[in-house]
Amino acid sequence: MNPFSYGTIVRGDFFFDRVEECERIVSTLSNGNNLVLFAPRRYGKTSLVFRVIEKLEEQGFICVYFDFSTVYSLETFVNGYIHAIEKKQSNLQKLVQAISMFVKNVRPKLSFDSLGNSEFGIELSETNVSIDTAAQALDLPEKMTQGTKHTIVIFDEFQDIIKLKQYNFENLLRSSIQQQTKVKYLFLGSKTHLLNEMFNNKNRAFYNSASHMQLGTLPQADTVIFLQRKFVDSGIKINTDTALFLIEQSGDIPYYIQLLAAEIWQFMINSQTLVTNEIVSYCTSRIVELKQDYYHELFDRQSVMQKQLLKALVVSGNNVFSAEYSKRFRLTAASTIQKAILVLLDNGIIDKTENSYFISDPFFRRYIQNYA
Ligand SMILES: Nc1ncnc2c1ncn2[C@@H]1O[C@H](COP(=O)(O)OP(=O)(O)OP(=O)(O)O)[C@@H](O)[C@H]1O
Ligand SMILES: [Mg+2]
Repeated sequence: MNPFSYGTIVRGDFFFDRVEECERIVSTLSNGNNLVLFAPRRYGKTSLVFRVIEKLEEQGFICVYFDFSTVYSLETFVNGYIHAIEKKQSNLQKLVQAISMFVKNVRPKLSFDSLGNSEFGIELSETNVSIDTAAQALDLPEKMTQGTKHTIVIFDEFQDIIKLKQYNFENLLRSSIQQQTKVKYLFLGSKTHLLNEMFNNKNRAFYNSASHMQLGTLPQADTVIFLQRKFVDSGIKINTDTALFLIEQSGDIPYYIQLLAAEIWQFMINSQTLVTNEIVSYCTSRIVELKQDYYHELFDRQSVMQKQLLKALVVSGNNVFSAEYSKRFRLTAASTIQKAILVLLDNGIIDKTENSYFISDPFFRRYIQNYA
């Protein structure tokens, strides 16, 4: 079996490092503060948070994990959120009671099959789920928390709350959180510019409501050791320089490092025992080739300005609003660049760290470099 894993939450032996980050998140939450975790796409937020959940649960906290990307209406929110709460209940009867008592228009159902396994479900009695019902669902963890340990709710892809804008959901959630004393929140998401705006803009409901933490890439030295260990288990050697080359080709992004390593492993497993830079380059090209149709279509779909900007970003992502940058890459006014950047950020095609912009997928970057 391929010892590298990407595209899913990594656990156990597939997960490495992030020790300090994990401790910091655990202590912030267990000390009773809310936290927002920023990081570009595919840096390992969700995997880290699952590790955090394990640690918090060892300490006796109940953790509810909910992914906002599944939400597109109040109904999907209420349904999904109640099921997320249910997953962490050892006593379903208690949940049924709490829903009956506190969430007026939701009818819980609990049935048992012949083997005694319980099955939980809910029925929504409103044709259109109301904002009141959503508010009552939001308060459910608070109502159900007993004892001294508070509940921790984790909202992943939190920026997607924007899909409920028409209901003023952001304000609703904020005021509900403010009144709760037994529940703490961890917010995370991949569109850092949207999250930043939510938590740092004075006019937004979540302004100043949580501690901030920025997640960086994994330390390269640890990644080298991880790669060497995984390859060696299959009788394959990779020296430090080649491992660093692999990391560089993957844009130093955890997901793409494992994607490229998996491709290399697959290519070598039955024939060779030493990873060389040539093999790394060959496998990089192979990934680009395999996705060529998709990349072609993706690039084609961009406006002229976005295309020009993407080509410029292949070369540099610093000072993109400066006059020199416009001149060097023959771009137009800063306001047009700003607009193109926002569209590309919103579509997840580019990302931002500090003041530098970069193409999120290093293989798409390579495609643009080679073909566009
Ligand atoms: N600590 C880690 N150890 C090993 N691999 C990791 C680690 N963190 C991330 N990865 C790699 O990155 C991939 C993506 O991780 P994860 O889904 O946790 O990231 P994410 O930031 O939540 O991504 P998205 O922005 O898509 O939600 C994993 O499948 C794995 O290949
Ligand atoms: Mg994630």
